Amino acid sequence: MGELEGKVAVVTGAGRGLGRIEALELARQGARVVVSDLGVAADGSGRDETAGQAVVDEIKAMGGEAVAHFGDVADWNDSKAMIQTALDSFGDLNILVCNAGFCRDRMIFSMSEEEFDSVVRVHLKGHFCGIRHASEYWRNKGKAEGSVYGRIISTASEAAIFASPGQPNYAAAKAGIIALTNSAAQGLVKYGVTANTFMPRARTAMTMTGQTAAMFQKPEEGFDVFAPEHVAPLISFLASPGAANISGNVFIVWGREIAVLDHPRRAAEFSVDDAWTFEEVAKKIGGYFEGKQPIKDSFIVPAMG
Ligand SMILES: NC(=O)c1ccc[n+]([C@@H]2O[C@H](COP(=O)([O-])OP(=O)(O)OC[C@H]3O[C@@H](n4cnc5c(N)ncnc54)[C@H](O)[C@@H]3O)[C@@H](O)[C@H]2O)c1
Repeated sequence: MGELEGKVAVVTGAGRGLGRIEALELARQGARVVVSDLGVAADGSGRDETAGQAVVDEIKAMGGEAVAHFGDVADWNDSKAMIQTALDSFGDLNILVCNAGFCRDRMIFSMSEEEFDSVVRVHLKGHFCGIRHASEYWRNKGKAEGSVYGRIISTASEAAIFASPGQPNYAAAKAGIIALTNSAAQGLVKYGVTANTFMPRARTAMTMTGQTAAMFQKPEEGFDVFAPEHVAPLISFLASPGAANISGNVFIVWGREIAVLDHPRRAAEFSVDDAWTFEEVAKKIGGYFEGKQPIKDSFIVPAMG
């Protein structure tokens, strides 16, 4: 008996990469799964339904239950139809894993309006649409029945906190996803719904394209640190009954590590007896930063411990 026996899950972008691994893991744990995907390339171009259907077939071959949904996560109506597919096919919705997305990397001074809009749209609006429609179902069900079993799992990226310089669109979208998910977590807690965000690192079409490809290569021997399979157990745990008290949190997961991020803290505090003046700001804030250098964090952060 799996930990998610009887539960109904929707996974967006489940045709390949992390989404596929997550859909397979949820099914392995007993969930019935809507495999939602548009089958686009790593830059968002094209459309191919075979990948999503192949994951459905894979789940069925394991003895599980799955249906495919082909649509654009950031389209209001496609997203609504995705949630409805879970209700029509399996009679309920318990788990929503928002994962779909693509990258169009460019430095800030070269980025086009379209590159910014399309990446923010697919990630941030893509999360919003799914969470919005799932939440409406859960709120109505919660009002009618008292409480529901609902789990939202959002996919951000360390780009959101380390702000990778070649990804201003992606970093902004991923930071927005954390805020969106935490807002949903607060709005839905009284209905019994949790919402958490994780930041993965894994070898997929996304990371095997461009500058990150060398870092994510499969090692010739030893532990395969960036195998996407290492991400999946955190997702099924967050989706499980045992995680009912975990909400509004952000995790980093890859290889043998899972980190829990703290909420941002005040690093320093200053005040004045009357109102602030330029001179007081220069003295106190300028003084605090004296000798410090501009922040130059990069996406590639060293492993902990
Ligand atoms: N791979 C990593 O190391 C890494 C790191 C940080 C964050 N992420 C995030 O993890 C998620 C999965 O990425 P991945 O690495 O598996 O990438 P991937 O390119 O392998 O898979 C992305 C999937 O999303 C689907 N998709 C894209 N646009 C869509 C749309 N509009 N509607 C529906 N489906 C759509 C694609 O068809 C594809 O199946 C993304 O949100 C990504 O930003 C990945």
